[in-house]
Amino acid sequence: MEIKTAKRLEHFKTGIFTALNEKRDELAAKGGKVYNFFVGTPDFPVFPHIKQAFLDAAKDPENYHYSLHDLPEMLEAVKDYYFERFGVEISTDEITSVNGSQEGIAHIGMALCDPGDVVLLPDPGYPVFEVGGYLSGAELYFYDLKEENDFLPKLDEIPEEVALKAKYMMVSYPYNPVCAVAPPEFYDELIAFAKKYNIIIIHDNAYSDIIYDGVYGGSFLEHEGAKDVGVEFFSLSKSFNMTGLRVSFVIGNKKIVDALKLLRSQYDFGMFIPTQKAAVAALRGPKKMVKEQCAMYQARKDALVNGLRSIGWDIRDTQGTMFAWAALPKGYTDSNAFCMELMEKTGVVCTPGSAFGKMGEGYVRFALVLPPEEIEKACRAIDESGILKK
Ligand SMILES: Cc1ncc(COP(=O)(O)O)c(C=O)c1O
Repeated sequence: MEIKTAKRLEHFKTGIFTALNEKRDELAAKGGKVYNFFVGTPDFPVFPHIKQAFLDAAKDPENYHYSLHDLPEMLEAVKDYYFERFGVEISTDEITSVNGSQEGIAHIGMALCDPGDVVLLPDPGYPVFEVGGYLSGAELYFYDLKEENDFLPKLDEIPEEVALKAKYMMVSYPYNPVCAVAPPEFYDELIAFAKKYNIIIIHDNAYSDIIYDGVYGGSFLEHEGAKDVGVEFFSLSKSFNMTGLRVSFVIGNKKIVDALKLLRSQYDFGMFIPTQKAAVAALRGPKKMVKEQCAMYQARKDALVNGLRSIGWDIRDTQGTMFAWAALPKGYTDSNAFCMELMEKTGVVCTPGSAFGKMGEGYVRFALVLPPEEIEKACRAIDESGILKK
């Protein structure tokens, strides 16, 4: 029998990642030194109190049933955290869990869009933003994020006929991959734009705790009117090194939260209870570790940005996220080809910017997942390879 899968899948391409991974494995098999700046998973361990809460809960056989709902104690923990951390007052019915922001963002469009609707997405884009828009069947409109505009959208450049048809707009700061933050005025402008055109704002907040040089990492919901127009995805993955546990929240406008809850109730039976208990431990536990970890990321960021600048690769400073976003060195224009050449000549593996959309071409992304000493060695390898002297 011939198995025919859905045409929908033809949209999803993995080409360059497969090629880069194969090349990296080939290099490693030959005993070559590999500096892996490719992965987007923190190398730091989960904090011990979070692991303990998970393990304790996992001992109880009762906790292996379908959970069906978010535990009240977890919703209360999110509510208290948002007040203590961001000064934002929310009620527990304005929160729902998702199995990671990845899952939630992929599905939220299906709860919001009808055929003919438009979804506004950033370019460069974190890939699941596009997937969410695509799966919802909406038309995708990409707004450009340019370095000359500090990677902020020019809202007045979005054509009025597009804005009028737009159902929701994805926004995220500090933003992976461009590593920029947004000033408070930007959110005021965004909320006014949303109200003018009746566009839902979905803010992806994965990196408010990984932010540099003393800048405050906040929440979209701190801004006046935010809850009227949208929701925020708030992930525990990166702040607490819980990427594998899959826990994130959608917080804000109750109508949007309820729509997502209804949709999710059709395909999910609730989050594993030990995961919910671990989330409570993270949200209620000491915050000192989060700050100490941010300082470690800062040391890595400084090592990479200063290291590359010192060898003649003048990259933009990273303002937030666990990444750096570097314009290609002089003489290069194709990010895929550059990544391949860089890996062959130096063992340094990074992600081509084109993987994030057309506006990503001309850039590469480095993940800050190696200690500063390794980063310094990688910079030396780049310098000695002569690749910057083209
Ligand atoms: C911008 C952004 N949003 C969302 C996610 C996914 O987070 P989660 O682990 O909560 O699915 C990531 C993970 O790298 C990310 O970089």
